[in-house]
Amino acid sequence: MKLNIKGGAAKRVLEELFDAIVDLEMERELPAIPEKILFYARKMVGASAGSLYLLEDGTLKLKVCQNDEVDVHSVIDASNMKGSELSLDHTSIAGYSVVSGEAVHVPDVTRIAADLPYKFNSEIDKNSGFISKSILAVPIRHPSEGVIGTLELFNPAHGVFENWNIGVLKSFSVLAAVTMVNIRLYDSIRDSYLETVFRLGIVAEFKDDNTYGHLQRIRHTSKIIARHLGCSEKEQDSIFHASSMHDIGKIGIPDSVLNKKDELNDDEWAIMRKHPEMGAKVLENTKSEILQASEQIARYHHEKWNGKGYPEGLVGEQIPQFARIVAVADVFDALVQSRAYKSAWKVQKALDFIQGQRGEHFDPEAVDAFFKGIEEILEVQKKFGELHY
Ligand code: C2E
Ligand code: SIN
Ligand code: SIN
Ligand code: FE
Repeated sequence: MKLNIKGGAAKRVLEELFDAIVDLEMERELPAIPEKILFYARKMVGASAGSLYLLEDGTLKLKVCQNDEVDVHSVIDASNMKGSELSLDHTSIAGYSVVSGEAVHVPDVTRIAADLPYKFNSEIDKNSGFISKSILAVPIRHPSEGVIGTLELFNPAHGVFENWNIGVLKSFSVLAAVTMVNIRLYDSIRDSYLETVFRLGIVAEFKDDNTYGHLQRIRHTSKIIARHLGCSEKEQDSIFHASSMHDIGKIGIPDSVLNKKDELNDDEWAIMRKHPEMGAKVLENTKSEILQASEQIARYHHEKWNGKGYPEGLVGEQIPQFARIVAVADVFDALVQSRAYKSAWKVQKALDFIQGQRGEHFDPEAVDAFFKGIEEILEVQKKFGELHY
C-alpha cells in the first residue's frame, strides 16, 4: 500500500505499530485486547478520543471508549451498558462504516451534508462536555470473516484526519481483527476442551454412585491447597482441571466391586488397587499439559508419604506434588461424605484423621496448606455436598 506520510509521522506510526504488534502478541486475555487496539489506533493518528465496536448478535456493541479530554464513562460505558449499543444500519457514522465496509471521514460534524444517510449523534457530547469536531470510522476487517466491528476516532491533534490515517488504520484493523478472532477461537477451544475433561471425569464418578459434587469438591479443594502451598496461578489452574480425572480408572472396575456395600475381600481389593494404573493408561502419552498432570494424579493419588501406598510404593517427594495434594483432598472428601461402603464421618473426626496422618499418609506441607485453607475448603464442602458436625 502506498502511504503518503511525511517523515516524522511515518517514523512515529511505525514505532507505534511495532509496539502494538509486540503488545498484542503477548496479550492472551480477550477482555484486555480491545482496550489496547483502541489505544494504539488513537496513538498512530493522534486522536484524542475513540470508541471500538464489535458486531455481536446483529448489533454493534461498544467494547471500549477512551477520551483524553473528558471523563466519558459516566455517559457512555461498555461495562455498565450505558449507551453501549448501536443498531447495525447506516444511520450512525459507526454503523455506516460497518454496513458499507468503507472508512467514513467526517472532517467537521457540524457540517454533515443533509443528503448523507448518517447523522452525528450529539447526545454523548451534550452529556459529557466533549466537543466532537472531526470523526474517522474505520471498519475492522478480518481476512476471512469480513467486517467484525469498527474503530471510531475523534479529534486528531492537528484538527483534521489526514488521508494516510485511513490507510494506516485499515491495515492496523486487520491485525486487530486477526488478534481478536484468534483469541476468541483459542478461548472457545480451550473452554470446550476443559469441559470435556471435566465431563469425562464425571463418567467415572457415575459408575461410583457419585454425582458431579464429588469432582467439584475435589478440584476446588485441590486448588485451595495448591494456592496455600504457594503454587503459581497456572499450576493452580492445572490441578483444578487435571484432578477431575483422578479416579478415571474406576471405569475398569466391575460394578460388583465398586459398589459393594461391604468391606472388600482380598481378591476384590487386588482389583480395586488397579484403578490408578488403569486410569494412567487411559491418559498416558499425551501432548496435553492438563492430561499429563491428570496422568500423574491418576497414577499416584494413592501413594503415601511414608511409602506404604500403591501402586509403586513411592516415598516422600518421589511422589509428584499434584498427587500429594489430591491425596489429601480425596481422603478428606471420602471421610466427610458418605460412600456405598461407609457413612459420613463428623467433620472434627476427619480433621483429626488428616492431622494424624501428617508425615504418614500425607505430605506434611500439603496438610499444613490444607489447614491454612480449611475455611474455604469447608465452604466448598457445603456448597457441593453435606457436612455432619
Ligand atoms: P474412595 O471411597 O474415594 O476413598 C478414597 C480414599 O479415602 C481411600 O483410599 C482411603 O485412603 C480413604 N478412606 C475412605 N474411607 C475411609 C475410611 O473409612 N477410613 C479411612 N481410614 N480411610 C478412608 P483407598 O483405601 O485406597 O480406597 C480406594 C478406593 O477403593 C475407594 O475410593 C473406594 O472406591 C474403594 N474402597 C476402599 N475401601 C472399600 C470398602 O471397604 N468397600 C468398598 N466397596 N470399596 C472400598
Ligand atoms: C459515538 O459518538 O461514539 C457514536 C456516534 C456516531 O457514530 O454517530
Ligand atoms: C463445567 O463446570 O461444566 C466445566 C468447567 C471447566 O472445567 O472449565
Ligand atoms: Fe482413587
